[in-house]
Formats: sequence, structure tokens, C-alpha cells
Amino acid sequence: MTELLERVTGLRDELNKHNHRYYVLNEPSIPDAEYDRLFQSLLSLEKKHPELVSSDSPTQRVGAAPLEAFNQVTHKIPMLSLDNLFSADELSAFVTKVADKLSESSDLAFVAEPKFDGVAISLFYRDGKLEYAATRGDGETGEDVTQNIRTIYSIPLSLSGSSYPSELEVRGEVLMPKAVFHRLNEQAQALGEKPFVNPRNAASGSLRQLDSKTTANRRLHMFAYAIGYYDGGRVPDNHYDAMVALRGWGFAVNEHVEKLIGTAECESYRLMLTKLRPDLDYDIDGIVYKVNSFAQQDKLGFVSRAPRWAMAYKFPAEEAVTSLLGVEFQVGRTGALTPVARLEPVFVGGVTVSNATLHNVDEINRLDIRLGDSVVVHRAGDVIPKVVRVVAERRPKTATTIAIPTKCPICGSEVVSVDEEAAIRCSGALLCPAQLKESIKHFVSRKAMDIDGFGEKLVAQLVDKKLLNCVTDIYDLRVADLVLLDRMAEKSAEKLVSAIESSKKTTLPRFLFSLGIREVGEATARSLSAAYGDIAVISQLDEEEFLLVEDVGPIVAKNIHQFFSSTKNQEMIEGLLAAGIVWDKPAAVETAGTLAGRIMVITGTFGSYTRDELKQRLLGLGAKVSGSVSKKTDYLIAGDKAGSKLTKAQDLGIRVVFEPELDRFFDQ
Ligand code: IVH
Repeated sequence: MTELLERVTGLRDELNKHNHRYYVLNEPSIPDAEYDRLFQSLLSLEKKHPELVSSDSPTQRVGAAPLEAFNQVTHKIPMLSLDNLFSADELSAFVTKVADKLSESSDLAFVAEPKFDGVAISLFYRDGKLEYAATRGDGETGEDVTQNIRTIYSIPLSLSGSSYPSELEVRGEVLMPKAVFHRLNEQAQALGEKPFVNPRNAASGSLRQLDSKTTANRRLHMFAYAIGYYDGGRVPDNHYDAMVALRGWGFAVNEHVEKLIGTAECESYRLMLTKLRPDLDYDIDGIVYKVNSFAQQDKLGFVSRAPRWAMAYKFPAEEAVTSLLGVEFQVGRTGALTPVARLEPVFVGGVTVSNATLHNVDEINRLDIRLGDSVVVHRAGDVIPKVVRVVAERRPKTATTIAIPTKCPICGSEVVSVDEEAAIRCSGALLCPAQLKESIKHFVSRKAMDIDGFGEKLVAQLVDKKLLNCVTDIYDLRVADLVLLDRMAEKSAEKLVSAIESSKKTTLPRFLFSLGIREVGEATARSLSAAYGDIAVISQLDEEEFLLVEDVGPIVAKNIHQFFSSTKNQEMIEGLLAAGIVWDKPAAVETAGTLAGRIMVITGTFGSYTRDELKQRLLGLGAKVSGSVSKKTDYLIAGDKAGSKLTKAQDLGIRVVFEPELDRFFDQ
């Protein structure tokens, strides 16, 4: 090899390695500027010596001339579809049926993986080089989209290692990550262009571009999920190992591909992924369960166009159309009026929905929504249902505009709008029974003063009967007052009074949180307490001093300052302290903390703690508790049924601490 060729190949290998680390492993290895420098060196060498350009060079992903039309490609093996199931019962019936057919015990091995909501693709490699790529089409014949596929950095142009068959078809799904989708739609909006409807449409449209430069700007991604045709070599004898092999050849294989035994594990995977779904950076519309062994797959065979050895569990649809019957304005703790849509009941996201939020008045204008309209309601996971758009073609002639209130619907006070906010607010403050009820509910809640037995209905009664006119009144409640209320026996009244009494011993962070200062959550309350440690000091600080506190920005600093500047609020705090609320001064160790600065992640379930208790204890020792495992994580605290986080932590070599070992943190 000439010295020149050696340099060119060396640069290519290095760039390919960085691409793989960045786009497949999600672990950037060098700064962008360094990557660009290497890329430019390769580009200029190739320019000077065009005879050295090869089709799998990283410089050759973009730049092909636009096409007139796509060619047709016949798949070497047809691309099939999957049968669907929709419930835990159907899943268990599938597992049993397959086990019966194979005359296996119920310990049959399956692999479960996300059902990606993108575009199916088939890639053909000859001697490790990408030869062509085709869409699914009608399953037999698809379109040749090779030029576009080459722009996707998570797809290797040449395979790694040497153990791959000389002819290899790889199947997978091309997606547009949600983050890219949102960014492109923001750009489209700024330019007055039409946005994409959803990431799947965006991915599909991007693959159908005749000019691959357009596709390159769409930042697509691909997850490989199967080997199709192969010849001239061997592949593993089961699906899970085939996925591992694909990973080794340089493909992105999803991190949530798991081997499972029997119905129970298939079901717990279903629950796990359903919960995880909103946090994923790509859309999935279900779970694919596949029999692991290829020999068993062959035994089971196919019915018409779908395999008997695989099934797609489909999540309940997240969008449905219904009609808008009315709009009510609810008054929140800080007086903000939230418009709530009253809907013709509709089944969406697995439940019947008859109310959905419209957020604020700006949103009503943005959606151009009217009473009587047909509207699309979205409900994902446990998130509050919302109205996302109007079906304009179905607007009835009788549709009427929504009246925006000028008076609070609860107390009749003026409604005010604050310039820089989308919200309109009731100006009645705690004279407004709605705001008072919400403030009390917040004050007594578990993470605030934690007064047991103080439910929503009780708060409503106490406010309506004027027994509570401010939070301080809680500490004047007597058994004799309480027994006069509906459904309040003497025993429960005594219990409540004793719960009120024991709530008096609290902590400074809880007390600060319970005050209900706008945008001061638990974390900010904790930071405030850690920084200044004394309510008398905190209540006298100026705005700049609040800005010094961790996580406090200008808006929050202003809110806190405004809160403490109000004489009424100062009186409330004095009243509460006079009623006997006390806390231990935050100990010095708590601020320094034996786990100060450590990043911990909690997963699974624990025998001796709820997850929240464990979190509070770790925070108390100065740790930072994060929701996801990354290279920065110091410890993963793993309980029972720890799933993908545990695998990831082990892969990354992060220290894992199990429940029995937790004492080593707490006994110090
Ligand atoms: S396996 C023989 N695995 O679902 C079955 N398909 O109806 C081969 N899909 O359009 C498919 N995620 O593109 C498989 N993890 C996954 C998948 C998946 C999404 C799509 C596939 C096809 C449809 C099958």
C-alpha cells in the first residue's frame, strides 16, 4: 500500500469509527471541530486524487446527483407484516398457543423489542459493502432509495468485523427522532412553511426525496431488527444472538431488545415499555414479540402474510376525534384560569375521556377552536388529555366562538392578564375560594406538610363553611368543629387533629415548599434551605441573593422575592410559626453531605423503602438523583425487577448497589 493510500484509508477508518460511536453508540468520542478537521483532510486528499475515492468513504454519504425517479427492487425474501394483539390476555394466549404448537413447556424463549413507528427498510450488503437499499413497497417489490439511505449515519456503508456472510440482507426501521421532528417543525413554522404531521410521516417523506441532499438534512436514524436473506457465510441460530451480531457489524440495535422466558416475563416487559414510552426519543406504537430460536420459527411457519412465531402488541391509539360541547375555566392555586374542554366522551389512550385541557387563552386562539367543533384529542401514557387540533372540514355552521371571561367564574373578581404571560388570572387571591382551596390542598399534600386524611372534599367543605379562611386556620381546627361536617365521625376527627398536630414537626424545605410560592418546587425549596438554612434570613433576602441559589433563575428569584415582600405572606408565616411549626436546623453535614455531588439513579422496587423515601434520603446526604443512566452516573441503586437501567449501568461499568448494601451509605 502506498503511503498516500494508507493515509486515506486511515482517515476513513478513523472517521467511520467516530461516526459509529456518535450515531450508533450515542457516545461522542471527539469534539465536532476535530471531526470536521479530519473530514476536511480526507476530502482534500480525495479531491487531489479522485482515483482513491471509494463508495464507502464517509465523504460519499451526501452529494449524489438528484434522481428523475426511483427504480423498483424485488426483495430477495418478501417483507411480511405482523398480526396484532391488544391486551395482556391476548398476549398470554399467544405465548400458550405457540408453546403448545411446539410441544414446549411454558418456558419458551421469546425476544421482545419496541415496535418502531417509522418506515420499514431492507439493506443489501455484498462482501460487507452496502449495495442497495429498498423500501417495503407492497412487500414483494419496493423502491430503490439507496442514495437517501446512504445519508443516514447510523447505517454502515461497510460492515465491521469479518464474520458476516458475503451476501446479507438486513431489515430495520428508519425513524425521525422526536427532537429532530420538533426542531424541523419549529424551523418550518418560523419560515411560514407547512409542518410535518408526525415523525413517521416526516421519515417517510424524507426517504422519498429525489434529491438526497434534502434527506441528509432530515437527520434520520435506523434501528436494525432482523436478518433477511443471506448466503456465503453463517449467522447465529436465534434472533437474540442475530441482534448481537448485527450490533457487532456496526448497526444500531435498540437497547430495549430483551430475551424473555414465558408469559410472566413477556407481561412485565409490556408494563415496563409502556411506562418508558413517553421518555423515548422516537415514536413506538407497540411491542414485537418473537420466538427466539430460528429452528422453532421455521417449525411454526406462516399464515398468509404474517409469521406464526411473532406478534405485535399494539398500544391503544393515542388520538381520537370527538366534539367539543363546552369550555369551562378552572381557577388554580395561583389564580391562573385554565380553559378545560368538555367533550362528548371518547375512548382514547385506553380510557374514556370527557375533559381535556386547552392550556390557556393563547391556545384557544392558536387552535381557532369553537363550540360544536370536531376536535382531535390526544392522550399519551398518564399525561393529561389535551385538544391538539380542530378538524376544520367538519365545522358545523352553528359553531360559536368561546367567550373569554372578564370576571372570575368562582369569586367574581376582575380577571387580569399579565403582559409576558399566556395566562389570565383571577385577582381575588386568597379571597377567591378556588385559590384558597388549591392553596390548602397544596399545603397539606404529602410532599409539603403531609397532613394525613385531608382530602379534596374535606378542604372544600371547610372552605365553604368558612372554617378555613387561610392556611393558618388549619392549626385552630378542633374536634368539636370537625364533627359537624358531613361524613366526619368523632374517631376520624380525632385522627385528623392528631395528624395536624404531628405535622408541626417538619423540615425547612417542606415548609418552604408548602408555602406555594410560584414555581418553587421541592428541588428549589431544598436548594433555598441548603443555601441559607433559616426562614428569617430567607424572607429578608433581595432578588440578587436568590439568584445565587442553585437552579434559581431570574423569574423564580423574582417570584420568591415578591412572595416575601407581601405583608400578608409575612403575617401568614408568623402565624404558622406561632401555631407551633418547628424544624431542626439543617445540620451542617446535610449541606456538605457524605454523598455530596454524587449522581445516583434509582431503579426497581425496594423492600424497606418506597422509591421516594429512598430518593429523599439520598438527597439528604447531598446526592443528586437523576432519572436516567449515563456515563456521568456514579451509582445505580437497583432494587427488585431492575430492568434496562441495570443492563445499561453494567454495560457502562457503573457501580451498582443493591438494597442490602445501602447501609453503607446510611450508616456513615
Ligand atoms: S419484525 C416477519 N420488528 O412492523 C416480521 N418489525 O407489520 C418482520 N416493525 O412494517 C418484522 N418495529 O417495519 C419487526 N422490532 C420490529 C419492528 C417491526 C417495527 C414494523 C415493520 C413492518 C411492520 C410489520
